[in-house]
Amino acid sequence: MKITTKPELDLTADLIIIGFFEEEANYSQPFPGLASEFTGAVKQKLFSKKFGEIYSTKIKDKKLLVLGLGKKKEIDTEKVRRLFGKCVSCTKSTKFESFSSNLAEKLKSNATVNEKDLGRCAAEGLLLSNYDFTKYLSKEKLENKRTVTEAILQWSGMPKLFQDGIGVGRIIAESANFTRDLVNEPANVVNSIYLENAAKKIAVEHQSRMQLKVLNKPELEKLGMNALLGVNAGSENPPKLLILEYKSGSGKPIALVGKGITFDSGGYNLKPTRYIEEMKDDMSGAGAVLGTIKAAAELGLKKHLIGIMPLCENMVNGGAQRPGDIVKAYNGKTIEIGNTDAEGRLILADALAYVEDKYKPEIIIDLATLTGACVVALGYYAAGLMGKDEKLLEEIKTAGAESGDRAWILPFYEDYQDWMDGTIADLNNCETKGKGYEAGSITGGVFLSKFVDKARWAHLDLSGAFWPISNEYLDKGATGSGVRILTYYLMNN
Ligand code: BES
Ligand code: MN
Ligand code: ZN
Repeated sequence: MKITTKPELDLTADLIIIGFFEEEANYSQPFPGLASEFTGAVKQKLFSKKFGEIYSTKIKDKKLLVLGLGKKKEIDTEKVRRLFGKCVSCTKSTKFESFSSNLAEKLKSNATVNEKDLGRCAAEGLLLSNYDFTKYLSKEKLENKRTVTEAILQWSGMPKLFQDGIGVGRIIAESANFTRDLVNEPANVVNSIYLENAAKKIAVEHQSRMQLKVLNKPELEKLGMNALLGVNAGSENPPKLLILEYKSGSGKPIALVGKGITFDSGGYNLKPTRYIEEMKDDMSGAGAVLGTIKAAAELGLKKHLIGIMPLCENMVNGGAQRPGDIVKAYNGKTIEIGNTDAEGRLILADALAYVEDKYKPEIIIDLATLTGACVVALGYYAAGLMGKDEKLLEEIKTAGAESGDRAWILPFYEDYQDWMDGTIADLNNCETKGKGYEAGSITGGVFLSKFVDKARWAHLDLSGAFWPISNEYLDKGATGSGVRILTYYLMNN
């Protein structure tokens, strides 16, 4: 989508979208001829000016949409995303491919959000909303799907800061959309080899500052990554550990570790119907790491990042891992497999221990669709955030709030810390205290913490990675969750 700015409202566009604040009474702007119609519409309660509400009319044979902006003082960065997202979804529901709007101009004069933030959030809302996963639709079905090719935004005065913001927002949104494509692709397409190729492509595009290292089965065996290998034992697809390094800054690196289960059947603790169908999304953590490193490179962030992605598939066959099996992880700790469906923590265990040992990062942030319990606790609107480094947690939470890709800090009390201790092995991948189902997301985080030694560490349980719902700028399916929060974190810190 092209995003252009013009000092005047473009009246030649196919569709015109006008924003109205709740406080505004004067309907003569910018179309005096519609004053009495607007007044009538409000009187008859056809239009209330409430946030996100739409009133549809015509001006000189042109379709005109009036978009309610709600209260002036309530406009914040997330509302900006939602308003621009709404412009795109409204345009998509017409037959038009472009629109012009005074929305940016209005929000600028309201000034609760600065010009650069306005540009960035506008671009994010527009481009995230314009995303669709249509590649498997044949021509007939595709005809009902539309995308917006141009947004023409009114902006009087110097557009420099606004346009800079748009540039940043475009990179962030397109990186999130890149991740959404990886997650929406089915598991018969996206396997470990596919993800390796995707990583290779990013590394080649940015080869002066990026390097990809791939550990394959023989190396993983040599290194003793038996937790990862155990999970993959029942799959025809090869296990891999991808290490995508981005070096454009000195100092100790930041490691981003992403769960890359390309399909989670549950293993012998097989998932039932209504739980198994979405499990192609179980590589969302790895997808988010790829998207974030792509964004960091395109934004030219002065950072040293290590992206670590353990990739495999949790399947069943005669060689698959059994409940009760015991494996020894990279750091020498033994793990009893209490449940083959708690596989994410197993592959992350090896990846966390390996990255700390080999790269000595100052900070490790891992991302994983680790527990259904996190979805139960938070729904789809925030990731669960855990760890013991309060400062790091606060910084990530702030990045979440600013990016709209939110995280909520869960408790990590000392009381939880022995819940994953094993009886005949050092650890169990399922909790061993209580009744076996309490605080499932936190105990998952506790398990991971046993594989980090010195680094400052935080864990994000990505409960919002795959939506059965939609909002003003995110549709059903993959959301790219993780990319925005991490990119904002890296930009801020
Ligand atoms: N990938 C799932 C978690 C998940 C399920 C995330 C649904 C998002 C939506 C994970 O591998 C899993 O199966 N976790 C188990 C852990 C349990 C066996 C301790 C779970 O949540 O039931
Ligand atoms: Mn599982
Ligand atoms: Zn899983």
